[in-house]
Amino acid sequence: MALPLLVDCDTGIDDAIALAYLAAHPKARVSGIVSTGGNVEVGAVHRNNLVLAELLGIDAPVARGAERPLVQEPMYADDTHGPGGLGHAVLPAPSRTGGPRSGAQLWVDLARERPGELTGLVLGPHTNLALALEIEPELPRLLRRLHIMGGAIHHRGNTGATSEWNIAVDPEAAQRVLSVFSSAPQRPVMGALEATESVRFTQRELDRFAALAESTGHPVAQILVDALRFYFEFHEADGFGWSAHVHDPLVTAHAVTGDFAGTRPLAVDVELAGTLTRGQTVGDELGRWGREPNLEVLTDVRPGEFIEHLLTALEAGLAPASAG
Ligand code: BDR
Ligand code: CA
Repeated sequence: MALPLLVDCDTGIDDAIALAYLAAHPKARVSGIVSTGGNVEVGAVHRNNLVLAELLGIDAPVARGAERPLVQEPMYADDTHGPGGLGHAVLPAPSRTGGPRSGAQLWVDLARERPGELTGLVLGPHTNLALALEIEPELPRLLRRLHIMGGAIHHRGNTGATSEWNIAVDPEAAQRVLSVFSSAPQRPVMGALEATESVRFTQRELDRFAALAESTGHPVAQILVDALRFYFEFHEADGFGWSAHVHDPLVTAHAVTGDFAGTRPLAVDVELAGTLTRGQTVGDELGRWGREPNLEVLTDVRPGEFIEHLLTALEAGLAPASAG
């Protein structure tokens, strides 16, 4: 049976690849998408999610999330993801709106509809999941498991000197989610930068995406090529060479298959007060806090195997017959 997932994302170039992977993978079924402001403002994220869902044949509700983070001012990464969030890609207009239901309410409704079955996948800031916990504090027990792309535990940040984007955009929300989910029957799985940055696309992967677009004519394959080109340009300008760190798909594939990385338990919290380190995810390796581990963190990533799996899944799933 396919794994039902609720995907909360700030689409976003690597979020888009993750959505395409989920649509393509026979063992995954997207039951809902929450649009969270992050890489670009929430309206642009929502539009991207609506269009991608339509083109990928994802027949599930897409709900618009909150306008801003819980406490701090919004910030956006259009230098990284492009002004509309998908680099150089030009998207058609969506043919539906997503309706009035909020992102937080979608979390609650889907979790209540199928207690213990839904996997939560957070690929953006935690704002809407934190708001959902205010409506339904039992979410940690209603979900099957939560998987998170976020944090930089033993790694430099990619936003602040020590903070990772998804946490830095809304540290209060992330802190609340990690704290409340410490009571979950299964510890949430976090893929932090030290894991996800081991997945680096080079020209070889860009060529595979271009070949996919060429052979399938699938509109999403072309969107991903145009988006990835922008992502490469950003990484090159940022000093990483002609390549791109592709974060969200690794966490997504691990959630679906349990493969491509190991996990280890760790107590992790979010720094809210630091003048230099606000938004940092701090891991208590030596048990100094006297707390039980609240997360399983991804470790020992096998990037080569993962990248091959991702491309093979996309090549099979975005075949011409599945073009929307
Ligand atoms: C995370 O931030 C976003 O820019 C990416 O989509 C990913 O979810 C990486 O820090
Ligand atoms: Ca993301």
